[in-house]
Amino acid sequence: MEIRGQVALVTGAARRVGRILALTLAQAGVHVAVHYGHSTQAAEETVDRLRSYGVRAEAFQADLTRPDAPVRLFRQVQEVMGLPRILVNSAAVFLPGTVRETTLENWDHHLSLNLRAPFLLIQTFARAVAQGPGKIVNISDWRAVYPGRKYLAYTVSKAALHTLTQMAAHELAPRIQVNALALGAVLPPPGKDEAYLARLVERTPGRRPIRSEEIGQALLFLLRNDAVTGEILFVDAGAHLVHG
Ligand SMILES: NC(=O)c1ccc[n+]([C@@H]2O[C@H](COP(=O)([O-])OP(=O)(O)OC[C@H]3O[C@@H](n4cnc5c(N)ncnc54)[C@H](OP(=O)(O)O)[C@@H]3O)[C@@H](O)[C@H]2O)c1
Repeated sequence: MEIRGQVALVTGAARRVGRILALTLAQAGVHVAVHYGHSTQAAEETVDRLRSYGVRAEAFQADLTRPDAPVRLFRQVQEVMGLPRILVNSAAVFLPGTVRETTLENWDHHLSLNLRAPFLLIQTFARAVAQGPGKIVNISDWRAVYPGRKYLAYTVSKAALHTLTQMAAHELAPRIQVNALALGAVLPPPGKDEAYLARLVERTPGRRPIRSEEIGQALLFLLRNDAVTGEILFVDAGAHLVHG
């Protein structure tokens, strides 16, 4: 698909990884709907930065843990910016919890934001972009294929996101391509420092964090190549190849 001039909706785009994805799109000439949850000021700053690349950018607030929010968000974006033909599901929560520790609240938080919201956005997108062309990229994690012990609900949500990616790719072909980017460690999680990140990547084949431009290149590849669908592209310097 020629992506220049298209509208993209990126969830969780105000800061961190979502912001990297939004900047990549703007640099490629894509107009960007910057979804955010709580980070109002960061969203405004990101919108200003995106506009500096000569594209349209607007901020849209939505608490995506609410069941009605994804559909409402999509419609608002369509009204203000026109039909989005690119959807990037990046907003997520990442909290620890083993089988014994995980509370109902922790479970529901992960499943509603990391899985139900992408599902509802994909469904709304598929109905609105029925004639195509369209591109969906779900942001996942190497942990989706690593059944460790510490992040139960997160890992389950991302593993299910892989299945959702593949089933949506199958159903929505040939007009819409659906893929996932399974990232390695890019930034330390909130509350953790660079030393945590260094220890984490030391156990992986690449022994280094993933760089912004590496994520951006992978995103653009998935958006531009119409033959690739149902793919889980690991951009993790090999982290998914080792277990722990
Ligand atoms: N960071 C990494 O190294 C890494 C590694 C592998 C995979 N990933 C994946 O990359 C994606 C982004 O990761 P990240 O580290 O940048 O995430 P993060 O720092 O935890 O940020 C979470 C994002 O989700 C949004 N969000 C949180 N709660 C929300 C809610 N209730 N409603 C709507 N939005 C909400 C936040 O928006 P507000 O701040 O506006 O609330 C924020 O943009 C995730 O899918 C994650 O699994 C990240």
